[in-house]
Amino acid sequence: MAVRHIFCIYQVVTALHLGRSIISDELEPAIEILKAGGLVAVPTETVYGLAGNGVDAAVVSQIFEVKNRPTFDPMILHFPDLESMEPFVKDIPAFGMSLANEFWPGPMTLLLEKTDLVPDIVTAGSYKVAVRVSSHPMLLSLLQSISFPLAAPSANPFGYISPTTAQHVDDQLGDKIAYILDGGPCEVGLESTIVDVTMETPTVLRKGGVTIEDIIGVIGSVTVKDTSTSQPSAPGMLHSHYSPRTPFYVIDKKNSLDQFAPEEVGVIAFDKLWDNVPSKNQIVLSEKSELKEAAQKLFASMREMDSRGFKVIFSERFPDIGLGRAMNDKLLRASTKDK
Ligand code: TXA
Ligand code: MG
Repeated sequence: MAVRHIFCIYQVVTALHLGRSIISDELEPAIEILKAGGLVAVPTETVYGLAGNGVDAAVVSQIFEVKNRPTFDPMILHFPDLESMEPFVKDIPAFGMSLANEFWPGPMTLLLEKTDLVPDIVTAGSYKVAVRVSSHPMLLSLLQSISFPLAAPSANPFGYISPTTAQHVDDQLGDKIAYILDGGPCEVGLESTIVDVTMETPTVLRKGGVTIEDIIGVIGSVTVKDTSTSQPSAPGMLHSHYSPRTPFYVIDKKNSLDQFAPEEVGVIAFDKLWDNVPSKNQIVLSEKSELKEAAQKLFASMREMDSRGFKVIFSERFPDIGLGRAMNDKLLRASTKDK
């Protein structure tokens, strides 16, 4: 064992003891922690995940605990490739194969029938399991170095905005996990698109990094769940999600700020500044009007705005096409529900 490796392990043990996490791009400690049944925050191209051995029920239950996540909300298993997934799923229907071939590795998750190798806690008792092959090179190397899939929900406390940098993870879960593998800012910035391919017509349960238009381009048609909740057995329970703590509203018209003084308002704008709010209170996501760039920055901007002590945050609604549909969906779920 290399001296550097031993030093890393020593640092990890110290970090756990002190209740502070290490942020590093070294793979070795992550591999060792995961093999020993611990948790590691990992980068993906979508958002950071809180990962642990997905076939060990005790480890999975630790993930629920650290996230403070209700156990009725199942989690995704991550694999290095399609082949390694085979023992864990019954069969992959033709539509599923087409989508997998087109979008993996990438920001898409498929819902398939599970085998007994997948513990019930992973799927919250469902006979279907959510599986994904991420395109992040660091996560792929990590998965290739271990012999089990990684269960990994987004690495945020339940209900808050998903993290798109290692620092975001540290800000919220740094005292609960020893190691954050730093793979840089997430390229996509929105969670994976979840498609249930076990039914006759595949159904999108969550809009995300692969667009509906792209999916239709491959399999011809798809049903889209409007509410975009992937927990159909608990309707409405997850309606409020990704939420900033500051009151947060999505608006179409920029003139609905009347009841607030302009300096009390934070604004997330798509491509240009609003003229009725000071520019220092605003983030423009893409001056070039590119949804891809805006998606990358959306969650980080929501966090930034949430940290600035505004009375209220307004976000502009995005064009309802491509990634804009997923972004609008996130915004609506993040928005404050007035009683
Ligand atoms: O991009 C992503 O998908 C990220 C990265 C880390 O891979 N992961 C992620 O996981 O967003 P999470 O747990 O935050 O969201 C996964 C969603 C949950 O809303 C969950 O209800 C749904 O997937 N899900 C997981 N397994 C399911 C299942 N067996 N049936 C129905 N929904 C499922
Ligand atoms: Mg999540």
